[in-house]
Amino acid sequence: MSESNIESILQEKRLFPPTAAFSQNAQIKSLEEYQQLCDRANSDPQKFWAELAEQELHWFQKWDTVLDWQPPFAKWFVGGKTNISYNCLDRHLTTWRKNKAALIWEGEPGDSRTLTYAQLHLEVCQFANVLKQLGVVKGDRVGIYMPMIPEAAIAMLACARIGAAHSVVFGGFSAEALRDRLIDVEAKVVITADGGWRKGAIVPLKEQVDKALANNVVPTVTSVLVVQRTKQSVEMQPERDFWWHELQKTVSADCPAEPMDSEDMLFVLYTSGSTGKPKGVVHTTGGYNLYTHITTKWIFDLQDTDVYWCTADVGWITGHSYIVYGPLSNGATTLMYEGAPRASNPGCMWDVIEKYGVTVFYTAPTAIRAFIKMGEQLPNARNLSSLRLLGTVGEPINPEAWIWYQRVVGGGRCPIVDTWWQTETGGIMITPLPGAIATKPGSATRPFPGIMADVVDLEGNPVGDNEGGYLVIRHPWPGMMRTVYGDDERFRRTYWEHLPPTNGQYVYFAGDGARRDEDGYFWVMGRVDDVLNVSGHRLGTMEVESALVSHPAVAEAAVVSKPDEIKGEEIVAFITLEGTYSPSDKLSKELKQHVVKEIGAIARPGVIRFTDALPKTRSGKIMRRLLRNLASGQEITGDTSTLEDRGVLDKLRGEG
Ligand code: PRX
Repeated sequence: MSESNIESILQEKRLFPPTAAFSQNAQIKSLEEYQQLCDRANSDPQKFWAELAEQELHWFQKWDTVLDWQPPFAKWFVGGKTNISYNCLDRHLTTWRKNKAALIWEGEPGDSRTLTYAQLHLEVCQFANVLKQLGVVKGDRVGIYMPMIPEAAIAMLACARIGAAHSVVFGGFSAEALRDRLIDVEAKVVITADGGWRKGAIVPLKEQVDKALANNVVPTVTSVLVVQRTKQSVEMQPERDFWWHELQKTVSADCPAEPMDSEDMLFVLYTSGSTGKPKGVVHTTGGYNLYTHITTKWIFDLQDTDVYWCTADVGWITGHSYIVYGPLSNGATTLMYEGAPRASNPGCMWDVIEKYGVTVFYTAPTAIRAFIKMGEQLPNARNLSSLRLLGTVGEPINPEAWIWYQRVVGGGRCPIVDTWWQTETGGIMITPLPGAIATKPGSATRPFPGIMADVVDLEGNPVGDNEGGYLVIRHPWPGMMRTVYGDDERFRRTYWEHLPPTNGQYVYFAGDGARRDEDGYFWVMGRVDDVLNVSGHRLGTMEVESALVSHPAVAEAAVVSKPDEIKGEEIVAFITLEGTYSPSDKLSKELKQHVVKEIGAIARPGVIRFTDALPKTRSGKIMRRLLRNLASGQEITGDTSTLEDRGVLDKLRGEG
């Protein structure tokens, strides 16, 4: 976060209590009620979660043990049997919700589709049978590389139905990034589309899959399923590639949900860390189902008449938990949008809200900042009076953006839930409950009931009010990740051994810096490791550096970020070149494009700076702190005495 943002957040004192009208009908109606839930959860966490699991979910068989905690490995509802696809679909069919809209889809070139719970159930059952026909069995992994179309959710639910774990890869990732993930997860099948629409252009998804699988580098993949979306011609490899709609015709619509062990793997989702390749975050069935269900219900205050819209992509955890599983488990109407604002269509988000009467809207600060830039005349020209609750996620929100969101989009009447969480946490961890907790612009406010969050120093000791420190979680929770796919040690090292145990208790290290104020409100300041947050997308500096050094011109690369008005952070890459190459605009462009090819457009560096050498310590470590100062045009702060060669710094500074 930039200095000026931190400044404005530190001075933020405004308080927005929930209105009586909102609280009256809310799921959680008062601060007292919230406090009681917290007290109950704190005094007996297992009882708290077990009661909710019993009330809120269907179980084929009840568990024997609520929590088996062998730090840092947790098992929830051990011995219990359930199925998240059953909880999201079948159980609603015996109620009036059978004919309620489950999924509303608005496609980019104006296509739209609404699926009721009964229709969604039918499609999921059919597609689950297609997967079975291709030999997919319980325990297999299935890659999903799709645009934002209903088939993405159908594919996820179909995998869950038969007990195959899905691994969704964001459709904006490159063929190389897709290949790495498919190899790591040992996918048996890949589900994709002939293409997807992105800002008026076609993204050639099937072509990327072909590239990822070329030369049999992912030998585990036996079949590729292709949705016909754009109708552009694609190559279909005989015996490997099949059209979704053709196979769908050949199967029955009868596919009972497989009773899954609570701890059976539900999905693997890759996310960036500060070191190495992206990690496969593993989530399992029962705990994840409960946690996403209850957080969606209480935080988004679901009512049966809501039209709920989360603008994330299903390729990210927000899409998993708060487009698909959380809303559907609650029997809500969830909206999925394939489009995005562009010059020819700048008010499209507001059009969607007006068209469907959206009541709950959940988006990212980076989107809000872009809306501000496009001007308030756009939302003002639409009828947004259906909205009753707003949310944000993905990065710290600056108070100015919060206030604009509240005033212009929320018409001054909608509470805002600023939700802090991570791929690893499965669901929202720190957030207002909108009928209970007064909000402060820029603060995610208080932990969700049952979440024991704290701010500590490097020794693991709690810091005082308003002192900065590391954000940690002290007790396991049902939605927590279980491990890094295939790498228990990396899981232990990354999240649980960063800080020493307190009183023998392991604490979960989130990688974020935070402070807690005198009212117990949390203010999340951003990452404390080498993880970047560009437009709410998480990227490791090392990933971008590896992509850069794989170009023949690059000898060394160091990647940092600088504050950006819209994106939050922008990537700045410092590059030293191999002997025969010299700096040029052309090479700079080529290197940016190279990163796009290796990772995807989300990782494109904003600035490339060529340098003769990188500032290093005598032991050869790149001094990123100095590079960050340089990138953002700030004075060099802190100690520079460990620098091996001060001349390097002076030269870089001279270039401005
Ligand atoms: O730095 C925090 C930031 O996003 C990181 C998690 O990224 P990811 O796993 O991609 O999940 C994003 C969606 C949950 C966190 O470590 N972050 C997320 N939400 C907030 C946030 N930072 C501040 N405020 C938030 N509300």
